[in-house]
Amino acid sequence: MSGNLQKLYEGKAKILYITDNPEILLADFKDDATAFNAQKKGSIIDKGRINCSISSKLFQILANKGIKTHFIDNPTPNQMRVKAVTILPIEVIVRNIAAGSLCQQTGLELGKVLLKPLVEFYYKNDQLGDPLLTRDRLYVMQLATAEQVDTITHLALQINKLLQEFFQQCGITLVDLKLEFGLDSQQQILLADEISPDTCRLWDNAKTDPNQRVMDKDRFRKDLGNIEDAYQEVLHRVIQVTLPQKNN
Ligand code: TMP
Ligand code: ASP
Repeated sequence: MSGNLQKLYEGKAKILYITDNPEILLADFKDDATAFNAQKKGSIIDKGRINCSISSKLFQILANKGIKTHFIDNPTPNQMRVKAVTILPIEVIVRNIAAGSLCQQTGLELGKVLLKPLVEFYYKNDQLGDPLLTRDRLYVMQLATAEQVDTITHLALQINKLLQEFFQQCGITLVDLKLEFGLDSQQQILLADEISPDTCRLWDNAKTDPNQRVMDKDRFRKDLGNIEDAYQEVLHRVIQVTLPQKNN
């Protein structure tokens, strides 16, 4: 619940509220955690605040580098005011290192560094289990135009590169990440949703053990324990990097 605001939509990790301004929504980050299309459910203490804080910082870093995002500001630590967008029902995944479903579906070895970042599209549809899409399927399903797919691919690669560099400053390797994009009232494509340990694979550079190095939701998916500590550690490292001052 957020004051008297009207709920627009409740997802697995966030609630979206309508505000007085039709161009602005309020995203309230929850502590709830799900995996495997919500077949596994749980809660991660303080996740809402941690993911909102990490996401906000990453959106600001990207905005400073010229990436248009839906982020406006944080009225409270677990809330984000965002520009209202129509979310494209596509999960855009960028992978730098083989892990997760890429290993399961291709047999590539966990940890194999990919020759170049791999961009994949998944259909955001829980009933269908978020299937992997080809470019032509995107067109057949009329989920995006060829121009939009080109723009999203270019943006996803740019965002991945910027975040890879940022996380390296934090002693963290960005293994892969999931991005979502939306269209604003002018049909501009904005980066939306969140970027957090729920939506990225993050490995601690200081650790080599394949379980100990995990600082993301794989700790929850695979019951590795110490989830709260890992999320907290990501936040701690991310907020230590200072943002450049604006000149105006
Ligand atoms: P995958 O290897 O399971 O396909 O996941 C790739 C990346 O996408 C990983 O960083 C986790 C993230 N992800 C989400 O954010 N939401 C999802 O529903 C899934 C399946 C993955
Ligand atoms: N989005 C997935 C779920 O629906 C969670 C995940 O594996 O990231 O439960």
